[in-house]
Amino acid sequence: MQAALLQRAPEVALERPELLGTALFDLSGRTAIVTGAGRGLGRTMALALAAAGADVVATSRSPGELETLVAEIGQLGRKAVACPCDVTDEAACAALVEQAAAAMGHIDILVNNAGINIRKPVLELSYAEYQDVLRTNLHGYFLAARAAGRLMVAQGSGKVINISSILGKVGLASQGAYASSKGAIEQLTKVLALEWAEANVQVNAIGPTYFETELTRPLFEDPARHDFITERTPMKRWGQPHELAGAVIFLASRASDYVTGHTLMVDGGWTAW
Ligand SMILES: NC(=O)c1ccc[n+]([C@@H]2O[C@H](COP(=O)([O-])OP(=O)(O)OC[C@H]3O[C@@H](n4cnc5c(N)ncnc54)[C@H](OP(=O)(O)O)[C@@H]3O)[C@@H](O)[C@H]2O)c1
Repeated sequence: MQAALLQRAPEVALERPELLGTALFDLSGRTAIVTGAGRGLGRTMALALAAAGADVVATSRSPGELETLVAEIGQLGRKAVACPCDVTDEAACAALVEQAAAAMGHIDILVNNAGINIRKPVLELSYAEYQDVLRTNLHGYFLAARAAGRLMVAQGSGKVINISSILGKVGLASQGAYASSKGAIEQLTKVLALEWAEANVQVNAIGPTYFETELTRPLFEDPARHDFITERTPMKRWGQPHELAGAVIFLASRASDYVTGHTLMVDGGWTAW
């Protein structure tokens, strides 16, 4: 294995042999804040980062779910703390990063994941509902990224990973608010990547397709909508939450040190056509 890698990447092997193989993806000694970590994809990604060696600051508005996660991460031999926070609250986001840094000493990774959806045709969507979705999915990402980014830029390193969606790339009926937020997240990702590039802070996004979580329960419990999504997906199946692990570990690790401003699609091919 080592010999094969040496042949394939002689420049890496000669200059930085310690970077070969799994060491590239080792997150030991790093600390990650994961928003929306209490359940669903955030919970899975928090566990994946911990399995790769990271300590985790878990946040959402539900302390009970966070405590369960913290206990599970503890069983993996990693440090974890629960810091409940509503990401739509500017002061709470600043306090979250302060508390996280005080508890862990440093923050290396932010996974901006907390999200909601209200699926209605635009003609039936109230302005208040539209604003609710944007406030969590877009403004919340901005607030958490800015708070963590201040710290990362000052320390001269960091990774911000924004969870977007296939709906950051393509449209779908009844997704006016959600798709607006996800398209904007991709643009925010690019701007932050540019602004923080020289400070060695990489900012990327992940674009998942449909995964079974509370967020998509109304879709997978409706046979017609479930089957539409399955048929529309080139791989003819929904994603499994653990299938996001590779993408989030890659973008959190030194393996992605020269990748910034990118959206990595984890979508079974949905956006390939
Ligand atoms: N599931 C999918 O198929 C899919 C596909 C593409 C993209 N995504 C994206 O992936 C992310 C996670 O989705 P999911 O499916 O895992 O959703 P989920 O199961 O509904 O979990 C959402 C998480 O976000 C938290 N949250 C919501 N509003 C919050 C707020 N204002 N402040 C803090 N935390 C908040 C929730 O906790 P509390 O309610 O307790 O605060 C929960 O922990 C979202 O950004 C979503 O858009 C999901």
